[in-house]
Amino acid sequence: MPLSNRSTLTQYLIEERRRFPEASGALNALILDVALACKAIARAVAFGELAESLGDMPSELPTGGDVNVQGEVQKKLDVLSNEVFIRRNEWSGLLAGMASEEMEAPYQIPKAYPRGSYLLVFDPLDGSSNIDVNVSVGSIFSILRAPDEAIASGRDLVEADFLQPGTAQVAAGYALYGPTTMFMLSVGNGVAGFTLNPNLGEFMLTHANLKVPADTKEFAINASNARFWEPPVKRYVDECLAGATGPRDKDFNMRWIASMVAEAHRILMRGGVFMYPRDTKDASKPGRLRLLYEANPIGFLMEQAGGRASTGRQPILGVQPSSLHQRVGLVFGSKNEVERIERYHHEPPPADISNPLFATRGLFRD
Ligand code: AHG
Ligand code: MN
Ligand code: MN
Repeated sequence: MPLSNRSTLTQYLIEERRRFPEASGALNALILDVALACKAIARAVAFGELAESLGDMPSELPTGGDVNVQGEVQKKLDVLSNEVFIRRNEWSGLLAGMASEEMEAPYQIPKAYPRGSYLLVFDPLDGSSNIDVNVSVGSIFSILRAPDEAIASGRDLVEADFLQPGTAQVAAGYALYGPTTMFMLSVGNGVAGFTLNPNLGEFMLTHANLKVPADTKEFAINASNARFWEPPVKRYVDECLAGATGPRDKDFNMRWIASMVAEAHRILMRGGVFMYPRDTKDASKPGRLRLLYEANPIGFLMEQAGGRASTGRQPILGVQPSSLHQRVGLVFGSKNEVERIERYHHEPPPADISNPLFATRGLFRD
C-alpha cells in the first residue's frame, strides 16, 4: 500500500481546535479516548464466537438472558462494550459523569479519579440483535457539558444533569463495525468520516465534509409495524410504495437493516430517509429509539451534514428530555423527505386518496 498522506483523527482534531485558540484540548482528548474504546469494541466484534462473545448474557433468571433497564435481553457484547466505554473513559479527568443504554442510573466517576466538565452519553452497541447473524453494528455517543454548578461542587451527578436538548451537544458521532470499521464525527463544524487502517490501528480521514442529498428515492421503516402507524406515516409510506403510479411520480427503493446506526451511515453516504415513528403498538413507549443516546447524536450528525432529524412533528434536537432512557419517534435523512413527513403530520389527511394501496383491500389497510 502506498504511503498515505491522509489526516489521522488526531490531526483532524488538532486542526479543528486551531479555530478555537482558547480551547484546552480536553474535548479532543475525550474524543480520542472514545475512539480507542471503539477500536477495542471493533476487535471484540471481529473475533465473534472465537472469543465466545456471541449470544445472550447468561443469567439465573427463569426468563433466560439478563435484561437491561429497557427490559431488553442483553447480549454478551452489549455488556462488554459498555465496560470498554467505562474503563477507557473513567480515569481521564475529562468527564463529570457518563450515562449508557445499559445502565439504569448515571455512572459516577470513581473517587480515585479527578472529575472533568463533560458528560459522555452512549449506546455502546446499537443493533445488537444483529450481532449473532454477523450484520453491521455500531456504537453511538453524545458529548454534553455538565452544569457549571455540578462541576464546581464536584457533587455526584443526577439524572437531571443529563436532560439537555440535542442542541446542547458539543460533539457526537458513532463507530460502525461493518466490512470496514469507521468513525463518524461532528464537533459542530460539519461531519467527517474516518476509516480504521488496521495496519496502523489509526482512524484516517476518508470522508471529509459529508453532505446528505436533499432528495432521495430510498426509505427505511420496519413494515411489520404498519398496522400501528399513525395516518401521516401510513400516507407517506403508501405514496412511496405507489411509486411512479402515485402522487410521488417516481419509484422508491426500501431498505431495513435493523441497526439504526448502519441505516444512518447509509443515509450519510447516499441519502435516504429512516423512520422509527411514534406508533400505537404500546402506549407506554412513544417510539422505539432512545432520545439521549440514539436520536440526539444521529440527529446532530444529520443536521451537520445538511439533512434533517425530527420526531415527525418537531426537530429532534429541540426536544427537552424528561428522562434518561426516554423513547421518541424518530425520522431522519434527506431534508425534503423529512420536511414532507413533518408536513403530513401537520396538515389534514387528503380527502380523496386514489392510490390503490389505500383501497379497502389495499396492502397497508387496517
Ligand atoms: P439496540 O440494539 O441498541 O437496542 O438498538 C436497536 C434498535 C435500532 O438499532 C434498530 O433500528 C431498532 O432497534 C430495530 O428494532 P426492531 O427491528 O425491533 O423494530
Ligand atoms: Mn441502540
Ligand atoms: Mn444498544
